[in-house]
Amino acid sequence: MSTRKSSTDTDNTSSSIAQRLSDPDSINLCHRFRELKFIGRVFIVTGGARGLGLTLAEGLVEEGGQVYCLDRLEEPDKAFYEKRDQLAQKFGDSLHYRKVDVQHASDLNDVVAEIAGKHSRLDGLVAAAGVQRVTKALDYPPEKITEMMNINFGGVYLSAQACARQMIKYKTPGAMVLVGSMSGKVANRGLYCSVYNASKAAVEQLGRSLAMEWGQAIDGKPIRVNVLCPGNINTPMVQKNFEDEPHLKELWESSNMLGRISDPEEFQEAVVCMLSPKSSFMTGSCMLVDGGFTAW
Ligand SMILES: NC(=O)c1ccc[n+]([C@@H]2O[C@H](COP(=O)([O-])OP(=O)(O)OC[C@H]3O[C@@H](n4cnc5c(N)ncnc54)[C@H](O)[C@@H]3O)[C@@H](O)[C@H]2O)c1
Repeated sequence: MSTRKSSTDTDNTSSSIAQRLSDPDSINLCHRFRELKFIGRVFIVTGGARGLGLTLAEGLVEEGGQVYCLDRLEEPDKAFYEKRDQLAQKFGDSLHYRKVDVQHASDLNDVVAEIAGKHSRLDGLVAAAGVQRVTKALDYPPEKITEMMNINFGGVYLSAQACARQMIKYKTPGAMVLVGSMSGKVANRGLYCSVYNASKAAVEQLGRSLAMEWGQAIDGKPIRVNVLCPGNINTPMVQKNFEDEPHLKELWESSNMLGRISDPEEFQEAVVCMLSPKSSFMTGSCMLVDGGFTAW
């Protein structure tokens, strides 16, 4: 007897799946029983006033976390308020803002201590604050080299240090994602940003070194440290690149295997994964998410 399904069988099966998927009660049921990974957990996201940081913060709230966006802007972008209000409908008051410059260790320590003290815990950090500058190496002003390194490397260092102190104080083994870049691994064709690229390579090495130091920091339990290395993302930072040098858009789109630039949402899952306690053996690692830019 033939085991091949008749076309009628196939039609019946697909229509019953379609019926089940279109049933709002079954969708609500899925949501209700979906496991939220971060209920009761507290996170800090630097550079969270806009762009990638804000979108990553949103991803953590959607998993049940309380998330504090730290940024040097007086007021976050209007997108922050829109996301905060949308998220509040489902997750309550879970997205917060604190103004602080990640270069200023003492302010940063105070803000992080205040947040951890309020909840008696701190579970995670996403260090996304960063700047970019396009200048040819022969013309790079010395003070701008220091400024870039102080934010992109020093700011990540100080953020990790401030958070680790609180994780140790409150004995909450946690995890960190330091935002590097594929530009820490390769030189971007046609884009003169030698200091930015070097600062991102430094972040990658910092991740490995902190992972080693803090692998058993909390009574033998870890603060896990991993690095996210994104490819080109459509954020205000990149929109500025396109305003200054319009040819870059097409160059970057054609430079990866997917033929497009990514959206910030495409990094949420990677960060949730690295911060999740289920990734308990992942530390000192670097996750490259670049549409294949560096793979051919
Ligand atoms: N956009 C991309 O294509 C891309 C690619 C790879 C990596 N990245 C990295 O992702 C991170 C976020 O970049 P983005 O594209 O969202 O940029 P963005 O400019 O849109 O956002 C960066 C945020 O960091 C904040 N910030 C800068 N300096 C700060 C400081 N000293 N203290 C506190 N906050 C400060 C800014 O105010 C801003 O809100 C950066 O580390 C960037 O290097 C971006």
